[in-house]
Amino acid sequence: MIKIKTPKEIKKMRKAGKLAAQLLDYLEPFVVEGVTTQKLNDLAEKFTKEHDAISAPLNYNGFPKSICTSVNNVVCHGIPSNEVILKNGDIVNIDVTVILKKYHGDTSRTYLIGDVNPQVRKLVERTKIAMEIGIKAIKPGKYLYEIGKTIEEYIKIFGYSIVEAYCGHGIGKDFHEDPAVMHTFSLDNKIELKPGMIFTVEPMINLGSKKDVITSEEDGWTVRTVDNSVSAQFEHTVLVTENGYEILTLS
Ligand code: MF3
Ligand code: CO
Ligand code: CO
Repeated sequence: MIKIKTPKEIKKMRKAGKLAAQLLDYLEPFVVEGVTTQKLNDLAEKFTKEHDAISAPLNYNGFPKSICTSVNNVVCHGIPSNEVILKNGDIVNIDVTVILKKYHGDTSRTYLIGDVNPQVRKLVERTKIAMEIGIKAIKPGKYLYEIGKTIEEYIKIFGYSIVEAYCGHGIGKDFHEDPAVMHTFSLDNKIELKPGMIFTVEPMINLGSKKDVITSEEDGWTVRTVDNSVSAQFEHTVLVTENGYEILTLS
């Protein structure tokens, strides 16, 4: 069941979304060579608490930390750790979700550490564009599958692969609500968009030709590309409006 948010709920979602974006802005200067992903986690947890919010990932289905930090071949759900020290040439996706007054704001960006090889830099730029054009396809009366269709048509010329095992999602009082938002064309997403729907758009794009991913047996969370190729991701939480869309995770 896809929930249509009331004007009151939308106001709260705007506040939660804004705080999530501000958290990423706050973290950005710390995302440099030599920092551990644990340090980024701790900064995020502190900032969130100071803003009277809760880190949604912490203890979510047993997830052990406050944010996800996914480096290079990690597609998503990377666990912050003192052992993971960002080095020159790495890319890292930081995915934050805050709960403010019971409502969730979910957003992620992929950051470059120092001199990143041009091929990987291009992947990151194009993944951001993929998210942006996917969002631009949102309009009431259109089908949800326009998002995935738009992203797929844009990405296919580069020879990259689009991860299908993880999707965007409805979001509100719950972290993950209906619908699942596909980042490729799928008739499963033949769902008419209506004002008041709120969901994320969060494509994960692999540099290699393999879209498949493997979840670590060791920690049960870390998702890697099967061929260990680099993977990038960006995410926004978006509201369907009367005329189009509004990105809620802007600072
Ligand atoms: N923030 C992720 C998303 O975009 C979900 C992370 S779940 C966690 O949906 F448990 F790993 F935090
Ligand atoms: Co997220
Ligand atoms: Co999400």
